[in-house]
Amino acid sequence: MQKLEQIYEGKAKKVFAIDDPGLVIVEYKDDATAFNGQKKGTIRGKGIINNRMSNCLMLLLENAGIPTHFVREMSERETLVKKVTIVPLEVIVRNISAGSFSKRYGVEEGIKFEEPVIEFSYKNDSLGDPLLNTSHALALKLATEEEIKTIRSYSLKINTCLQAFWAECGITLVDFKLEFGKTAGGSIVLADEISPDTCRLWDSVSGEKLDKDRFRRDLGGVEEAYAEVMKRVTEHDNC
Ligand code: TMP
Repeated sequence: MQKLEQIYEGKAKKVFAIDDPGLVIVEYKDDATAFNGQKKGTIRGKGIINNRMSNCLMLLLENAGIPTHFVREMSERETLVKKVTIVPLEVIVRNISAGSFSKRYGVEEGIKFEEPVIEFSYKNDSLGDPLLNTSHALALKLATEEEIKTIRSYSLKINTCLQAFWAECGITLVDFKLEFGKTAGGSIVLADEISPDTCRLWDSVSGEKLDKDRFRRDLGGVEEAYAEVMKRVTEHDNC
């Protein structure tokens, strides 16, 4: 499986074509950004951790009946995935108030919601990923009504699975961001990654932040937090 030309470079990953037009190889970098790329840095070893962890979680979700882009891990930093067209909606699921929710609505962090909150934002860096609702998404033709229904129902199911998984690792799943893709056949699959870059993960006992907020907020101990989460995932599941 030979890597051909690079077809895309994002903030945390590169994507390469291969000789099969239905598949691509994703390569995870150690680059970290925040605030729409305004803050830049490196988290040493992050690419290796996020590749492994995301693959572990995608497998877990596949086994729970959620279709994903995952095909096979190729190396420490590389994974073979189905080639998809990314639906330009970032789906955020929140179980506890934090981050932009707390800021926007003027509430403290740490309030547990009775039901998960689902938010969509328009995946568009030049506009700063603005928040939008279903009717905005339909007006902008970002997805069809049917696709949005599917995305919403997969997202809630993913939340249930991930909350249970992280709880078994001694971690509270505060919130996370998902991206979905459309395969050549037109079906919706979970894409992108699930990692401490895209989830807020708090230690269940101490409440310590074990995710990218340590980088965003200059809390220190960034690499250690990623390593701690990886250790707990590996101990839980030899995936
Ligand atoms: P927020 O509170 O800043 O809106 O973030 C909600 C969740 O989404 C949090 O777990 C971090 C994740 N996230 C990303 O993965 N990428 C992003 O660009 C942003 C803004 C948040």
